[in-house]
Amino acid sequence: MGESAVGLGLLLLLALTTSFCSGANVTYDHRALVIDGRRRLLISGSIHYPRSTPEMWPDLIQKSKEGGLDVIETYVFWNLHEPVRGQYDFEGRNDLVKFVKVVQDAGLLVHLRIGPYACAEWSYGGFPLWLHFIPGIVFRSDNEPFKAEMKRFTAKIVDLMKQENLYASQGGPIILSQVENEYGNVQSAYGSSAKPYINWAAAMATSLDTGVPWVMCQQNDAPDPIINTCNGFYCDQFTPNSNKKPKMWTENWSGWFSSFGDPLPYRPVEDLAFAVARFFQLGGTFQNYYMYHGGTNFGRSAGGPFITTTYDYDAPIDEYGLLRQPKWGHLRDVHKAIKLCEAAILATDPTTSYPSPNLEVTVYKTGSGRCAAAFLANIGTKSDATVNFNGNSYTVPAWSVSILPDCKNVVLNTAKINAISTVPKFVRYSSKERAEAKDGFQSGWSWIVEPVGISNKNAFTKPGLQEQINTTADQSDYLWYSLSAAINGNETFIKDGSKTLLHIDSLGHALFVFVNGKLVGSGKGRNSDQKVSIDIPLSIQPGNTKIDLLSMTVGLRNYGAFFDTVGAGVTGPVQLKSSQNGLLIDLSSQQWTYQIGMQGEDSKLYHGDSSIWVTQPTLPTNQPLVWYKTTFDAPTGSNPVALDFTGMGKGQAWVNGQSIGRYWPTNIASGGSCTDSCNYRGPYKADKCLTNCGKPTQHIYHVPRSWLKPSGNILVLFEEAGGDPTKLSFVARETRSVCSHVSESHPLPVEMWSLDDEIRNRTRSTLSLTCPSPDQVISKIKFASFGTPRGACGSFRHGECRSKRALSVVRKACVGSRSCSIGVSSTTLGEACGVSRSLAVEASCA
Ligand code: GAL
Repeated sequence: MGESAVGLGLLLLLALTTSFCSGANVTYDHRALVIDGRRRLLISGSIHYPRSTPEMWPDLIQKSKEGGLDVIETYVFWNLHEPVRGQYDFEGRNDLVKFVKVVQDAGLLVHLRIGPYACAEWSYGGFPLWLHFIPGIVFRSDNEPFKAEMKRFTAKIVDLMKQENLYASQGGPIILSQVENEYGNVQSAYGSSAKPYINWAAAMATSLDTGVPWVMCQQNDAPDPIINTCNGFYCDQFTPNSNKKPKMWTENWSGWFSSFGDPLPYRPVEDLAFAVARFFQLGGTFQNYYMYHGGTNFGRSAGGPFITTTYDYDAPIDEYGLLRQPKWGHLRDVHKAIKLCEAAILATDPTTSYPSPNLEVTVYKTGSGRCAAAFLANIGTKSDATVNFNGNSYTVPAWSVSILPDCKNVVLNTAKINAISTVPKFVRYSSKERAEAKDGFQSGWSWIVEPVGISNKNAFTKPGLQEQINTTADQSDYLWYSLSAAINGNETFIKDGSKTLLHIDSLGHALFVFVNGKLVGSGKGRNSDQKVSIDIPLSIQPGNTKIDLLSMTVGLRNYGAFFDTVGAGVTGPVQLKSSQNGLLIDLSSQQWTYQIGMQGEDSKLYHGDSSIWVTQPTLPTNQPLVWYKTTFDAPTGSNPVALDFTGMGKGQAWVNGQSIGRYWPTNIASGGSCTDSCNYRGPYKADKCLTNCGKPTQHIYHVPRSWLKPSGNILVLFEEAGGDPTKLSFVARETRSVCSHVSESHPLPVEMWSLDDEIRNRTRSTLSLTCPSPDQVISKIKFASFGTPRGACGSFRHGECRSKRALSVVRKACVGSRSCSIGVSSTTLGEACGVSRSLAVEASCA
């Protein structure tokens, strides 16, 4: 890369951090988005504003910026902003304008995916449920009532942004907007209505005159001028539907979401980095991590059904806002390496050659035909390869890309991680702090027992079994189905002494069955199959048998053709049947009495302020349907905090009146093929790399610090199944160790150094360590070895070769400071044998 290209690169970098004072013209051509006449290579990341708190936003955005992002992407969640038709809410976590301004203040750009269909594992895909009750409506189709509402809301958001001058065309940060979401994946199910709908959506969006381009993701037939973009684990092979549109990747899934009952997915960073590098190698110019920070599904916002309250997503910034290392750091390095190639990538189209089936050598050339930047990819999954390129020979490990911004020096290989690693843990508050009630609950527990069955005067009776979502309109997770079954004793199977079964078929999502006031059985579905079908043995006596079925939704469906019409609840049949002779009494069409929601919800017990809480005679535990309340002081320190729900069953929890979400620690992840060290080589899919098999899918729940005051906080739980609240504890998210493992390698030639300080330092082989929190220092070096050390962070061990001085050198350089750097060479660390030597260090931070 010549000096002028370097200069251009710096200019572009500068331009990225400047906001558009007088308004920028955003267009596109076949290579890239074009802002004020200049093509841009943009790295983007998804952060959904309501999945964290406004107090967390500035730090999340700052960490995104330091990670090398140019753009923050978010969906807009219609059901948050318009919970009741015509009544809008843009306060607190819903303050979209504030979020966009926080991004702007950090000097970053925004991609606003208005949708208004979001998907996003968000309840009902982001649609407000009242939409469903509009007569004649058919969602996401060429249907007048739907289009009218979609247009009204989309225009409302666009107007809101315009009023605040937030579009780039007005000097704001928004450079891009999305309409619809992955409609192409489901559109065949909508038949002849699909195409007119998509054409209408495109025209409607364009007519709103935002001054910035619109995209549709996974929509191959997106009409001009809408750009069709790619979503997936890999998008290197994607081509847009016109040679006038750039190659854009709106969702690079950095991990995957989790569901109650399933193990936790993770995506190795080597594979993610490989996917990113290959996309830019093969001509991409806009890439977005879905998610960069996943966050938390507070309240009842989780979709699914069965999406967990955590939406951590194995993202580069974890649910709690802490850097996930080495993921965040390695991607930052990848971004830097790609940015070194930016001018070359934007100037021209790539040329790729294939020296062998698994090798791809891509060159970006200057106008005069000279190589300006190169990428060497080995897409084989087994063996490292040697690539002869430009007069040199390069070893490219399996499933990796080497990046050569000057066509000569490898500044980064996606499989070689130089970033630090950390292993954050949830730490229980010490017994001293607990004794001082610093992990809370100093007042003990009070409670209110929720009645089984009908207790509300608004209950109503209807013949037959009603579908749940149409009945509750999602005002609550809960619907009671109650019946008094008259058994006269003459029923054949009761007379002949056969065993009786209560058979229930439900569309899901979860069900508790009470007979004569006692919990006799329960059932639950899963994300893959929400239905519940159970047979409960009963001993039935002549007389009236009271059957109370508590049916629960666990987040409304968010994906699939006509997902909005998928029902829930006990739609039957419900039968009493003989286990032996097949005879039965069908209760399905009898007169059932219904109650929407719990009495405690009606009286807003979650605020914790009513006077009806009791503390006598003894705390009920392991008993269904109990509201619990306690008060607590905020845990000490500034680390993120969470509640460990071990000991509880299933329910919802509120802190100072704000819902921290649904808890369900008794829902155990299925067993199977979990591994903590998944082989990153080879195509990734959502169930390739899993942890946590056989353990609760989620037992730890985020309590945002900003929701707490120093003392007198109120925690309210509604326990559905039965649990023991005295087992609950506060935990802090802490990182007490940082590690780094860096190999000794040859420095880059001097002319490369001016490109970027960090890469210069790294390629001179420097190991750097930094404690994550500003109030921590390195207190101890737990391990240091220069030579051929092995293992991973937390389990490093010496190899055959090691220098004697490494530990003392590292100690001297690091202990007592928050950060330190050590040159990785025998000059600094002492002689060691071995050909490819490295330095591995694990340090304690306190
Ligand atoms: C995509 C969708 C996103 C999200 C993702 C899975 O298909 O567009 O909104 O649901 O899948 O996390």
